[in-house]
Amino acid sequence: MDRILVLDFGSQYSHLICRRIRDMSVYAELAPHDAPLEPGGASGVILSGGPESVYAEGAPRPHPSVFEAGVPVLGICYGHQLVVERFGGRVRRANREYGSSELEVVDGAGLLGGIGGSVRAWMSHGDEAEEVPPGFEVIGRTGASAAAAIAMRERRVYGIQFHPEVAHTERGSRILENFAVGICGAKKEWTMEGFAESAMSSISATGGRILCGVSGGIDSSVAALLIHRAAGDRLTCVLVDNGLLREGEREEAESVLRGLGINLETVDASERFLARLRGVSDPEEKRMAVGDEFARVFTEFARERGPFRWLAQGTLYPDVIESGSAKGPASVIKSHHNVGGLPSWLGLEVLEPLRDLYKDEVRKVARVLGIPGSVSARHPFPGPGLAVRVIGEVTPAKLQIARSAGRIVEEELRGAGLYGSVWQAYAAVGDDMAVGVVGDERRHGNIVIVRVVDSVDAMTADWTRLPHGVLEGISNRITNEIEGAAWVAYAISSKPPATIEPQ
Ligand code: XMP
Repeated sequence: MDRILVLDFGSQYSHLICRRIRDMSVYAELAPHDAPLEPGGASGVILSGGPESVYAEGAPRPHPSVFEAGVPVLGICYGHQLVVERFGGRVRRANREYGSSELEVVDGAGLLGGIGGSVRAWMSHGDEAEEVPPGFEVIGRTGASAAAAIAMRERRVYGIQFHPEVAHTERGSRILENFAVGICGAKKEWTMEGFAESAMSSISATGGRILCGVSGGIDSSVAALLIHRAAGDRLTCVLVDNGLLREGEREEAESVLRGLGINLETVDASERFLARLRGVSDPEEKRMAVGDEFARVFTEFARERGPFRWLAQGTLYPDVIESGSAKGPASVIKSHHNVGGLPSWLGLEVLEPLRDLYKDEVRKVARVLGIPGSVSARHPFPGPGLAVRVIGEVTPAKLQIARSAGRIVEEELRGAGLYGSVWQAYAAVGDDMAVGVVGDERRHGNIVIVRVVDSVDAMTADWTRLPHGVLEGISNRITNEIEGAAWVAYAISSKPPATIEPQ
């Protein structure tokens, strides 16, 4: 398949470049900034933005093969400056230009074709091209950057100072399409129907039994269904009920997955998990305990029902990139738990059919495969489950409050037509108590914290400005229907500085 290679120089938008191109059905892949380009390895290369200055010592540069392969190259922001420098121009520190600028199109054919005479373009840089390299012409400029877009047509090398991948740049997708399709000639072959077909044909080519852990969430359900369609009886799915699931989650997952014909077994391990969590109140210790217990249960299952050759996981593209990144280790905010902690002596090979996909692409595959909307629209749920929504020690009483109140939050949002438009919505509970009055009696009960957030990728999040009437409905129902709940509070911290889950 034709592909566009996006070299990552560290911009927070590098992933977005890939996604925009994939949205136009052209396959794009992110690679480390110094990845070499094999002959025939890509139809074109994009150099992303990045935080460095090209004139700084040790500034990251692409592998020489990138400019020698003869394929079209587009530099964006830092990538633009790399192009300027590589071809003999000069980059200098400039007035910082952040936010929207008016881009005047000087040459409306080729890269900037079809976008009109001027567009709003998103800038975020502190350097600019002082001297345009020989052989290049200026095809666009802004008030502050005389060479905001440059081109050397014969060699098909381009540089743009602004970010076409962000939504704030008008007609930015058209510019990327002009490059990927018009200039590189990449074919629009990346469709989710095509993906599902080729994933299934490579899964059919594997031999041996496959074990897949499922949670009822979209990623593991899509992975399981793809494998089921391709491998049939060779697949066994296991759902570990750790006693920390949302209300009705286990039953729903069982009915959906079995309804799709998947061979699913449920292991009820809730007692084991709750026993393991008794007396543990530190958030990281709780996460470790859940992850470790999960690995034990899973391993026992694999041993008893094996032998299996493959372990299937619903790993997505951003996880693959992050774990393979050459960058320094980001500080651990929370230890995320997944099946990655299984012992190597189990000797299972890993099968990750979704490792090339972004979340929204997984949603599209779910539609292609006919997975019910209730699964694909479900909010994300953390691996350690309600253990991170119960603050402090996990006790059956607190779990019950978090579970019932969470259901009420979801029901009220659904009733108000808001469930689908927020990122996550749930209730948390800790050990703080408050006094209430019910009928004529005093009630001493827990304070329940309701958290509803908007986000696009969970990296940042903002609290949702829910209508007061909806908040009121949630609060009334929680205090009326849940005996141990006395007060309801609404969490109004964004991420950062808070995180989405309380623990
Ligand atoms: P935080 O709380 O770090 O969460 O802002 C960001 C997103 O990740 C989810 N989350 C997890 N997901 N395993 C997961 O698979 C985990 O251990 C885990 N912890 C948090 C959280 O629900 C939010 O969507």
